[in-house]
Amino acid sequence: MKILVTGGTGYIGSHTVVELQQQGFTTVIVDNLSNSQAGVIDSIEAITGIRPVFEQFDLVDRERTADFFSRHADLKGIIHFAAYKAVGESVEKPLMYYRNNLVSLMNILEGMMLNNIPNLVFSSSCTVYGQPDELPVSELAPIKKAESPYGNTKQISEEVISDTIRSSKLNAIALRYFNPIGAHDSALIGELPLGVPNNLVPFITQTAIGLRQQLSVFGDDYNTPDGTAIRDYIHVVDLAQAHVVAIKRMIGQQMKKPFEVFNLGTGNGYSVLEVIRSFERVSGEKLNYRIVGRRAGDVEQVWANPAFSNNELGWKALKSLDEMTASAWKWEKAYRSRQ
Ligand code: UFG
Repeated sequence: MKILVTGGTGYIGSHTVVELQQQGFTTVIVDNLSNSQAGVIDSIEAITGIRPVFEQFDLVDRERTADFFSRHADLKGIIHFAAYKAVGESVEKPLMYYRNNLVSLMNILEGMMLNNIPNLVFSSSCTVYGQPDELPVSELAPIKKAESPYGNTKQISEEVISDTIRSSKLNAIALRYFNPIGAHDSALIGELPLGVPNNLVPFITQTAIGLRQQLSVFGDDYNTPDGTAIRDYIHVVDLAQAHVVAIKRMIGQQMKKPFEVFNLGTGNGYSVLEVIRSFERVSGEKLNYRIVGRRAGDVEQVWANPAFSNNELGWKALKSLDEMTASAWKWEKAYRSRQ
């Protein structure tokens, strides 16, 4: 059972490759290393004992992608992570985001159709819901106008997939992630943002280890119990396991319709201050932070209704917030000690 994982050296991709290999799948990684390092392949091998096949190229390159698929027509499925994902950067460089995230998807769909590769799992985001009218948010909630070009690429990608499936024999599952954090228990793979982190948890751990001076908490005047914004944080290994469940569902022909959408969250919302407190509790470190103004484009609060995923996929996120922040800290310390 051979599965292509695009973006397989990235944060969620690498954890998913590990879970796939541990459940007996053969994996092929395609990544252009634009936001990851080739050394991740060694770490995957160290964890699983199996070295995934790795091809370094850009999926925006139509000819290279077509050539890849013609050589791997025996693929049973594709998990497509490879994409740019920084909200702020997408506002500065919208064309870069549209070209990268959409053209690569179209090249993959074309390769699937030409080579009869039937199954696609797509990395989507809860960003498609914007600020939902009702919480927790279910898959039936309306799609709101995107706050950023990045968010728009996720919305458009879901539409491109849905339209393509309607006119072909392909199947797809879009997984709408809430906020993935934490790292593999081995501390051999984890989140490794290049440059200054945009996301909360890597900024916390980099501040605690001394790489950043101070965490800025973006806003304490939201309409939430402590005034800081609320998210549904999910452990990256729980998230990775959902991808294996999704690909098995497709291969086992258990889908109820050719394009399915699932929320991947825990159903629990935590504020920024609650995440900081959890980090301080599990690490024993005092975090240097200060409250600043809101960050443009942030929603106030969002957390998932995971009932549909739990029932249909038979999957559930298991890790607690403390387990998530502890694993992020363990990874940060282990990674820096190896440098
Ligand atoms: N935050 C801070 N300080 C920081 C970084 C983040 O206070 O230095 C706050 C944010 O304002 C937000 C929360 O921490 O309230 C979480 O922020 P992240 O940047 O970690 O995550 P987001 O919820 O903004 O973004 C995530 C994904 C995006 C996706 C979005 C959809 O990273 O890819 O969810 O809501 F688009």
